[in-house]
Amino acid sequence: MTRRLLLVNGPNLNLLGEREPEIYGEDTLADVEALVTRVAADYALDVRAVQSNHEGVLIDAIHEARKDCVGIVINPGGFTHTSVALRDALTGVPLPVAEVHLSNVHAREEFRQHSYVSPIAQCVIVGCGIQGYDFAVRRIANLVAG
Ligand code: DQA
Repeated sequence: MTRRLLLVNGPNLNLLGEREPEIYGEDTLADVEALVTRVAADYALDVRAVQSNHEGVLIDAIHEARKDCVGIVINPGGFTHTSVALRDALTGVPLPVAEVHLSNVHAREEFRQHSYVSPIAQCVIVGCGIQGYDFAVRRIANLVAG
């Protein structure tokens, strides 16, 4: 059976590359998805990539992942700091979670310092730009190896 990873990107990440490039860099969402697909392939993992600006769409994708995925790499965007429902979705499926933030949220506004996701994630990667997704995939692959 194919082993698959769910890649979730939350609100506003569709604008990567044009949105505040001094903070988030010049790579686009397509670049992120291509990177994740390439790295995952090293571990014989397929990728299902979802980006949405709508909380419910992200929650539905996480629920679906329990049927055919082995792990989740997620950048929840602004929902990181607000969404109990997104966290509940992640704890509701028995899959390891890697949380990624392009920017170093700890060096930014105070409201970005709290994440609803971090306490329930297997790893948290911040401030590494899109390379953070590379690290996250490798970590999930390691956790589900065997
Ligand atoms: C972000 C950080 C969040 O605070 C912000 O709302 C984002 C992007 C990041 O990748 O650095 O949308 O998750």
